[in-house]
Amino acid sequence: MKAAAVNLAAGNLVAFPTETVYGLGADATNSAAIARIYAVKGRPTDHPLIVHISSMQRMGDWAEKIPEYAIKLARNFWPGPMTLVLNRSELAQDFITGGQDTVGIRVPDHVVARALLEAFENLGGKGVAAPSANRFGQVSPTTAAAVIDEIGEYLEPTDQVIDGGACAVGVESTIIDCTSDAPRILRPGAITAAMIETCSGIQVGKIADSPSLGVVNNSSEMISVDLIRVSGSLENHYAPAAKVLLCEIPFAGQGLIALASIETPPGVIRLASPRDDEEFAQILYSALRQADIQGLTEVVVTQPIGIGIAVAIRDRLARAANGR
Ligand code: TXA
Ligand code: MG
Repeated sequence: MKAAAVNLAAGNLVAFPTETVYGLGADATNSAAIARIYAVKGRPTDHPLIVHISSMQRMGDWAEKIPEYAIKLARNFWPGPMTLVLNRSELAQDFITGGQDTVGIRVPDHVVARALLEAFENLGGKGVAAPSANRFGQVSPTTAAAVIDEIGEYLEPTDQVIDGGACAVGVESTIIDCTSDAPRILRPGAITAAMIETCSGIQVGKIADSPSLGVVNNSSEMISVDLIRVSGSLENHYAPAAKVLLCEIPFAGQGLIALASIETPPGVIRLASPRDDEEFAQILYSALRQADIQGLTEVVVTQPIGIGIAVAIRDRLARAANGR
């Protein structure tokens, strides 16, 4: 991992696995390297990046005025699939935060990611900015092959993609706004509202729990949130080329992604049969990619109905169904 860390320190890009999805990493203090992330992703520069660090001990480098409940969440769920949005320190410059006064921070739980972050910090690095390693608006990659498929043609020979196998969680981290009195979920993920409430003892303000419509609910909390800045909150994100259909019965020639308990009608191309909601999240993005690889024009997804990680699955599916 030393060589990859040296590569990051030299200003190059290193795509690496995390437990959620693959990230496209760069030195979070190097504006030229960060500019390359935006170019490779084709992402608007006012969309902020998450800074990845090896342990919560380094939160104070990047954030200030951290509320007590955020410390509790960090202690409980890091390393893990959770990003905390905090008031930024001077280290978090506009090119990371999209010009906002907050910064997103995460300690990922993956042996490769942690070894890379530790090696980078041992070289004097402060943190690694890493958005999902896909082109803007597309499905996040959960394997190294999917990373190369997405952005390979935009990388330089000095950049690097580290293969760490398939990601265990499969959907992006829960993003929690910790800049007010109560935590608010900006993007649902494997760390659920119930888990956050149990840990913090505070009721969360949910803004992105969208079971069926995919449009963020219009509770008063969300009106104050600048949705443009949370690119994952755009209504047409995470979309494959195939049209994603929800709440429909599949017919011959269409793809189908559904729990194993649901049967495949004749002529329907079964893309995945996860046994539970966790496995559903884990295989979802590769199954959507598979629809495109097989040249299908339509894929029906029977959504899981649970309230755990199923909330995140429905959130991403609703956006995918809104198409490109
Ligand atoms: O699981 C993940 O979070 C993955 C892995 C690689 O860590 N990363 C990821 O990054 O999903 P990205 O950039 O694809 O999505 C991060 C989302 C974006 O929608 C961004 O706008 C939002 O986090 N975000 C980052 N910093 C923020 C901030 N200060 N305030 C509000 N939203 C922020
Ligand atoms: Mg993304």
